[in-house]
Amino acid sequence: MSDLIIDRMLEKDIDHILKIEQASFHQPWSRASFLSELSNKYSYNFVLKLENSFETYQIIAYLCFRLITDEIHLLKIAVTPEQRRKEIAFKFLNHCLGTFGGRKIKSVILEARQTNTAGIDLYKKIGFNIEARIPNYYSDTREDVILMRKNFFKGGINGYEDSN
Ligand SMILES: CC(C)(COP(=O)(O)OP(=O)(O)OC[C@H]1O[C@@H](n2cnc3c(N)ncnc32)[C@H](O)[C@@H]1OP(=O)(O)O)[C@@H](O)C(=O)NCCC(=O)NCCS
Repeated sequence: MSDLIIDRMLEKDIDHILKIEQASFHQPWSRASFLSELSNKYSYNFVLKLENSFETYQIIAYLCFRLITDEIHLLKIAVTPEQRRKEIAFKFLNHCLGTFGGRKIKSVILEARQTNTAGIDLYKKIGFNIEARIPNYYSDTREDVILMRKNFFKGGINGYEDSN
């Protein structure tokens, strides 16, 4: 990821994020949703930027976590369509999870739509396991929701270990 940098998400990033969001999700978040995350004290939001010519940067991926007691909730991750299948999500998510290393965190949890093979396979590759499947969870498509969990410090993510 030599020409890539990871930053905290800022309000000025939202215009660009919304373009990726609308190309990525069945029910995309609005500007208000992202602003709400940015102002939530439990929220951790990151962007991944690719260096262009003239040292300008373009956002190519983003993710949103919430840290609630000892659990990280992955609310959202997306990569711009033209940059997919290059291991970007795999490395970005692993790196961002690694920033929680050393804290007393038990696990990371998330929800995925049953038809989201790309997302589910990405999470399995990172070490998430399917914990439950709830039928007809999504009111728009009647899809099942897949609940997945990764125990954070069992074996560590990216070598990060609980220091406590
Ligand atoms: C899911 C998403 C973030 C993956 O991003 P990506 O950068 O293309 O993923 P990576 O290249 O890092 O892939 C890592 C692994 O994920 C899985 N994967 C990624 N895209 C896949 C696809 N289209 N089909 C099947 N598996 C896929 C594979 O296991 C892959 O490992 P491999 O390349 O060794 O086979 C991207 O497709 C996306 O933004 N989708 C729309 C938003 C979304 O669905 N987010 C997840 C919500 S649950």
